Amino acid sequence: MAIKGEISFPGDKSISHRSLMFAALADGESRISNLSTGADVQSTRKCLEACGIKIWDNGNDVIVKGRKFSDPNLPLDCGNSGTTTRLLLGLLAGQGINATFIGDESLSSRPMNRILDPLSQMGLKYKSNNGKLPITIYRSELNGIKYDSPVASAQIKSAVLLAGLGAEKDTSVTEPILSRDHTEKMLKGLGANLTSNGLTSTISPLTTTLSNLNMTVPGDPSTASFFAAAAAITPGSEIILQNVLRNPTRIGFFDTLQKMEAGIECLDQWEDSGESIGTLKVTHQSLNAITIHDDEVPSLIDELPIISILGTQAQGVTEVRGAEELRVKECDRIHAICKNLNKMGADIRELKDGFIINGPTKLKGAKIETFHDHRIAMAFTIAGLVADGDVVLDFPECVSISYPEFFNQLDRLKS
Ligand code: S3P
Repeated sequence: MAIKGEISFPGDKSISHRSLMFAALADGESRISNLSTGADVQSTRKCLEACGIKIWDNGNDVIVKGRKFSDPNLPLDCGNSGTTTRLLLGLLAGQGINATFIGDESLSSRPMNRILDPLSQMGLKYKSNNGKLPITIYRSELNGIKYDSPVASAQIKSAVLLAGLGAEKDTSVTEPILSRDHTEKMLKGLGANLTSNGLTSTISPLTTTLSNLNMTVPGDPSTASFFAAAAAITPGSEIILQNVLRNPTRIGFFDTLQKMEAGIECLDQWEDSGESIGTLKVTHQSLNAITIHDDEVPSLIDELPIISILGTQAQGVTEVRGAEELRVKECDRIHAICKNLNKMGADIRELKDGFIINGPTKLKGAKIETFHDHRIAMAFTIAGLVADGDVVLDFPECVSISYPEFFNQLDRLKS
């Protein structure tokens, strides 16, 4: 069986969350096309609606009528979505909203102090469950701060910058390694006074309103990575990935494929609304092992589960270091990767901050523990394409967090 054909993807999840949030901050009606179809972005939509923002579907577009936030009557249910929680904590704090945030079991175990610490330095009053959900924020006067983030995290950076829109003075955030820069690019494009200089971004309080958005969200490169990997490891495959976001802070996975000497080619690349977008071709070819260092991790953080699968099929020792952030994603992804790849017969060693894989190995089918994590479910489904025997996921439904169409699309491309 090979993977053949063409595919385009629903909008990038990170940009989709932000497009709804920034449209909510803007004056008047915004139009967003190709919004992510995943449950996470639906969580953002519902939370914004609960804060008085009107959002409706118009054919394939989503229309947002923004500007006037109000206190929600019920707790904001962020579901499984860290981005919803963390960005809205900052945004709503900056808008002077009183709100309680809740989420599912996985989200309720994830660290939120990384957001609450800088927001409380800005003057936010809040109550939390030991730095985790549920969290209640109370309307507070915010000061601008200069925040040195200990972690390269777009969620931390975005939360602080969004809170800064409602602060007394300028707010700046410095991060150790550049994380995805969608918040900076989009807010600048909509008229916010935001400057970026190397690893530091500074935002001024919003004195006028943001311009409304009229955008098509580029296809999600993190979703595309599963299909690229499927073609890269399955003999006889050739796939065309259309309209994929090529933002430089997000192309780590595709650079990695290239370094592994996969058959990958960028057929076309263009700019739209300040973002690079491209068409890529991936063909099957033998892979070489690779070492991933900490400075590369932010640009491929969500792709490390599928990179581990590539590592099992590559010649040599694949090593991932400096990726301890994986332990606090939708599940402990280092543990999930190592446990499941062990079950499939891979030669993998767990490290505190990553893993080492000795390849290539003929994988065998196994019962996979997804830990209800969409990216673990998708990565191990792709591993199943080259395994002897069946891969059975304990909870395949979790793919709907980012890509409900995953199984149908993969089946369509099998030949
Ligand atoms: C995201 C940032 C990343 C990423 C997540 C989405 C975002 O998290 O893992 O899936 O949209 O800002 P961190 O910023 O915590 O690394």
